[in-house]
Amino acid sequence: MIQPRSQINQIAMYSPGKPVEELKREKGLSKIIKMASNENPFGYSPLAAEAIQSEMKELPFYPEVTSPILAEKLANRLEVSPDQIIFGSGSDEVIRLLSRTYINEGDEVVMAGVTFPRYKTNVVIEGGVPVEIDMQNGTHDLDAMYQAINEKTKMVFVCNPNNPTGTIVEKEALRRFIEKVPSHVMLVMDEAYYEYADSSQYLETLPLLNQYENMVILRTFSKVYGLAALRIGYGLMSSEMVSHLRKVKEPFNVNRLAEAAASASLDDDEFMHESINLNREGREYLNNSFDHMNLGYFPTQTNFIMVDVGAPAEEVYEYLLDEGIIIRPGHLMGYPTMIRVTIGKKEDNQRFIECLQAYLEKKNANVNQS
Ligand SMILES: Cc1ncc(COP(=O)(O)O)c(C=O)c1O
Repeated sequence: MIQPRSQINQIAMYSPGKPVEELKREKGLSKIIKMASNENPFGYSPLAAEAIQSEMKELPFYPEVTSPILAEKLANRLEVSPDQIIFGSGSDEVIRLLSRTYINEGDEVVMAGVTFPRYKTNVVIEGGVPVEIDMQNGTHDLDAMYQAINEKTKMVFVCNPNNPTGTIVEKEALRRFIEKVPSHVMLVMDEAYYEYADSSQYLETLPLLNQYENMVILRTFSKVYGLAALRIGYGLMSSEMVSHLRKVKEPFNVNRLAEAAASASLDDDEFMHESINLNREGREYLNNSFDHMNLGYFPTQTNFIMVDVGAPAEEVYEYLLDEGIIIRPGHLMGYPTMIRVTIGKKEDNQRFIECLQAYLEKKNANVNQS
């Protein structure tokens, strides 16, 4: 048997939210509600659809290597230099590029105990050592993360807002943390859900980017822009770091349709604001429903909520699957009685609550009988 590198035996394949097509096949259901992968249930901009259509004639041709036209447009919008932007096949790829480019064997990487799993996987692949720090109430413990930094630390990930808990770190605490992280340690701020965060406690990190050369910000077109299938996200960092990552990336890592759709999406703030507003309404509805049902949940600044259903997550997951609703069970993330639900369209949120209520009533009736 040909053996892979030893690091590969330490990791598992990424476990995504169950695909709609798979559940349809398994259960013979025609209508499925997917509330499992934090996608945008409201679709994507019609301008993106037009741009894709018109770019189709270019399919025989490779895209440009650094997406310069999109970079220029995004740079103007974000007030950074185009050479401070690197695009990836999703921000997933930028996480991989950062690890590939910077992690040496034995380097430590500090991250929250329950956070986006791709940090840990990529660090392990490179022979690095993930240092996972316990959370406090589903929130990064920045003091403990700072304490964990030593001379072996190469990188720190702060997922803000955090996936899967949806929480943000408090503004002043984050500002102090950014100030204290030593300059030889790369600080990666993963802001995949940036556009959804509306708390006055959310820190805008972009204005700090040029002040802290060790800082990286990750954002994506997969969430509020609704382009998850096209795979395009980006990292903002010093131009020197970008030049290193560009040597490591595949030349044509971002495809033409993704570039065209992302670029057009930047011209449609109306679609983005509409998605944010509808998500906010859904968030309020779900929070209120959970309050009525006496269920605790982490305060979310994203398009998903992690709620404690007080029952085995796996059982709730299976029950909801039978009803054609896909969510994420928390036992896979260290929260055995919690589930993570992506905020959906109004009718889907209502149906989810109805089914969850039915499950809990049934469960209570069984408990009372026995
Ligand atoms: C926190 C976080 N970072 C990064 C990603 C990767 O997103 P994408 O590769 O689609 O840009 C996700 C996707 O769910 C995420 O939740």
